[in-house]
Amino acid sequence: MKTSNIAAALLTVSPAAVAGWTWTEADGKSINFTSVPGYFVQDDEATSPTGFDYATVNFGLINRTYPTDKRFDAAGEKTQWQRFEAWVKHLNSGCNKKRNVQYKVLFMGRHGEGWHNAAESFYGTPAWNCYWAEQEGNGTATWADPLLTPAGEREAYKANAYFKTRYETEKMPYFESYYASPLSRCTITANLTFADIQLPADRPFVPIVKEGFREGMTVHTCNRRSTKSQISEMFPTYRFEAGFTESDQLWDATESETDEAFAVRAKAVLDDVFITDDKSWISITAHSGAITQLLGALNHRAFRLATGQIIPVLVKAEVIELQPTPVFEAHEPYSTCDAPPVTSIAGQGCVCATATSSALPEPTASEPAECPSV
Ligand SMILES: *[C@@H]1O[C@H](CO)[C@@H](O)[C@H](O)[C@H]1NC(C)=O
Ligand SMILES: *[C@@H]1O[C@H](CO)[C@@H](O)[C@H](O)[C@H]1NC(C)=O
Ligand SMILES: *[C@@H]1O[C@H](CO)[C@@H](O)[C@H](O)[C@H]1NC(C)=O
Ligand SMILES: *[C@@H]1O[C@H](CO)[C@@H](O)[C@H](O)[C@H]1NC(C)=O
Repeated sequence: MKTSNIAAALLTVSPAAVAGWTWTEADGKSINFTSVPGYFVQDDEATSPTGFDYATVNFGLINRTYPTDKRFDAAGEKTQWQRFEAWVKHLNSGCNKKRNVQYKVLFMGRHGEGWHNAAESFYGTPAWNCYWAEQEGNGTATWADPLLTPAGEREAYKANAYFKTRYETEKMPYFESYYASPLSRCTITANLTFADIQLPADRPFVPIVKEGFREGMTVHTCNRRSTKSQISEMFPTYRFEAGFTESDQLWDATESETDEAFAVRAKAVLDDVFITDDKSWISITAHSGAITQLLGALNHRAFRLATGQIIPVLVKAEVIELQPTPVFEAHEPYSTCDAPPVTSIAGQGCVCATATSSALPEPTASEPAECPSV
């Protein structure tokens, strides 16, 4: 077993800044993230994540006033989004601006349903985790770095239509930067969501593909990415973070990424975005487990997203004294069978039909790094 923080080291990308900007105040320091409450209903404990749909509630933006309204909108003609945008701009540039504090609005979207989601529903979770998820597919469907199902494409088109209405009727600001996980279900979801929207010339849809946004690296083949060339071929306009390797060097067929490694990676990729990108309006297309970890790193309450769902967060990032580097197990074994299992038992692992059962524990229900169907 590899015992180190290799995963974090690999993912702490040097600020080789695609954007060419560096948050110098953060040099040699740590960053503490806060999800600022009072702007979106999702951070309110009274809002249930179950069945929540961004497209019925203006992404959850709360109707309220901001201290900047009086000057920005004396005539009372601006939309909620325009007034919120002016407030965020003020937070980042007002006369009391501290150089060790930054605010960003992050929109984190989960990909639309992929073939791996459909297959987990089809086979049931024990058979999926113990056997089917380790295969490339079943002859009918392929779920190694899967594409979207027709239902998943519809979820992305729904987001596309909703963003258009927000831009046209609500004057929602256009994103200044886009990021995506390298897994196809995310690069495709981002494309279907944004590619055909008419955007201002200075805010084009040019996502940066970052390893740190990928799903928890269980041994499931749905979490192994395609090569850089294959991603480029599908999406020639997408860019890659510095150091993005041609082949997938992070996924492992026999050992899974631990929760601790996943949490450190989520914090590291957010640190990297805040250190290298001075923009405020940011779209991230990622995964259920990844967004769970990102919300954790942002000190936001848990808010599980169904496929195709999107959550915005107003983030305050503050430079603090350098914190100790966490030490953790980067990988752990994963229980599987060589054939479809009889069942699996929580805490004990897979019950295989043959004598090849591995006695290793199956991931517990708390592990967010699965490929959940909902
Ligand atoms: C980070 O900010 C939170 C408030 O969101 C605070 O409770 C916490 O103590 C801070 N952590 C550090 C290490 O400064
Ligand atoms: C904000 O107000 C609009 C119209 O005035 C309403 O449709 C919407 O539901 C309100 N949003 C929230 C989150 O209360
Ligand atoms: C393969 O899995 C898909 C779900 O991803 C399912 O719809 C299909 O029926 C399965 N094919 C076979 C041959 O079992
Ligand atoms: C990207 O999105 C555009 C606009 O919806 C679509 O025409 C195109 O086929 C998509 N490309 C891929 C590879 O999905």
